[in-house]
Amino acid sequence: MNVQQLTDIVRKLVEHHKGLLAMDESTPTCNKRFAGLRIPQTETARFAWRELIVTTPGLGECISGVILYDETIRQQMQKATPFAAALADAGIIPGIKVDTGAKDMAGHPGEKITEGLDGLRDRLAEYFQLGARFAKWRAVIGVGGGLPSRGCIEANAQSLARYAALCQEADLVPIVEPEVLMDGVHTLEQCAEVTEDVLRAVFNQLYTQRVLLEGMILKPNMVLPGLTCPRQNTVDEVADATVQCLLRAVPAAVGGIAFLSGGQSSELASARLNAMNARSKLRLPWDLSFSFARAIQQPAMEIWRGEKANVPEAQRALYHRSMCNQAARRGEYTSAMERS
Ligand code: 13P
Repeated sequence: MNVQQLTDIVRKLVEHHKGLLAMDESTPTCNKRFAGLRIPQTETARFAWRELIVTTPGLGECISGVILYDETIRQQMQKATPFAAALADAGIIPGIKVDTGAKDMAGHPGEKITEGLDGLRDRLAEYFQLGARFAKWRAVIGVGGGLPSRGCIEANAQSLARYAALCQEADLVPIVEPEVLMDGVHTLEQCAEVTEDVLRAVFNQLYTQRVLLEGMILKPNMVLPGLTCPRQNTVDEVADATVQCLLRAVPAAVGGIAFLSGGQSSELASARLNAMNARSKLRLPWDLSFSFARAIQQPAMEIWRGEKANVPEAQRALYHRSMCNQAARRGEYTSAMERS
C-alpha cells in the first residue's frame, strides 16, 4: 500500500470544494433510467450519454472525480481516447464501480448482500492499469417492517471492509458506500438510528480489516424521513440530524465524506448539503462533499432525451448542477441559483 499516493488522491478528490459525479449505473439501472424517458436502451445510447457527460465544458471546475462503470472504462471516445484518459485530460480523476450488485440475501427475506469479492484483487489490478485511481462499492440497507437485521448489517459491513482493504493494497482509494434506503414510511429519527448503527458496524469492520481511514472516503446517505413518511422534515432538521449522526459514528481520521443523493430531487440534495456546511462546517473534522448520480444527471438527461440537437443544453444543465453543488460545499448555495 502506498500511503502517500492514497492520501494524495483523497485530498485531490475533496479539495477546492469540488465533488464526485457518479455515472457508474449498471446496464440494467441505466436502461431503466433511459426507459423512463423513452431513450433507446442500447450500448450506443449509453455511450452517447456518457460521452456527453465527460465532454461537458468546464466540468473539471466543479468535479474532481467521476465514477465509471466497467462497460465505460473499456470504451474509447474520439481519436481512440479511452474515457479514463479523457477525464484525466480534463483534470478529473477516473474511478470505477467494482461491486457486482446487491443480491437477495440467503435467510434474510427482503434484504440484500452486495457481491463482488471473488476475483476482486485481479480486477482491481486491471482497473488501475486502465487508469482508475479510486473505486466504489455500494451496500444497501432497507428500513421498516423489522428491518434491517443484524445479519444483513454485519455481512454488508464486512464485505465493505474486505473490499476497502483490497483497494488500498492495489493503491486505489476505496469509496465506502453503505446506503440506508429512502423507500418507506419510516421517520427521520428511525433513519438516524439505523444509519448510526450501520456506520458503527462499518467502522468496526474497517478497523478489524486494517483499513487506513485517511486513505478512504465514506459515501453515506443523508439522514432523511422515508419517501412516504407523512412528516417530511425541514432542510435544517435534515442537516442537523445528518451531522449529529456522522459526528457520533465516523472517526475524525476519515479522509472525507461524500454523500449519495439516493432519489432526492436535485434541488433538495443541494439545499441539504448546503445547510450542513453553512450550519456546521466549522466544527467538523472532515469535508462534507457530494458523490451524486441522479441529483446531477437527471435534469440533464430529461433535456437530452437521446437527441443530438439537445447535447449543448443538456451539458449546460449538467454544469449548472455541478456548480450548485460546489456552492453547497461552501455553504453559499441559494435557491436563486436555480433561476440563473
Ligand atoms: P445517487 O446519487 O443517484 O443515489 O447515486 C449515487 C451512487 O453512486 C449510487 O451508488
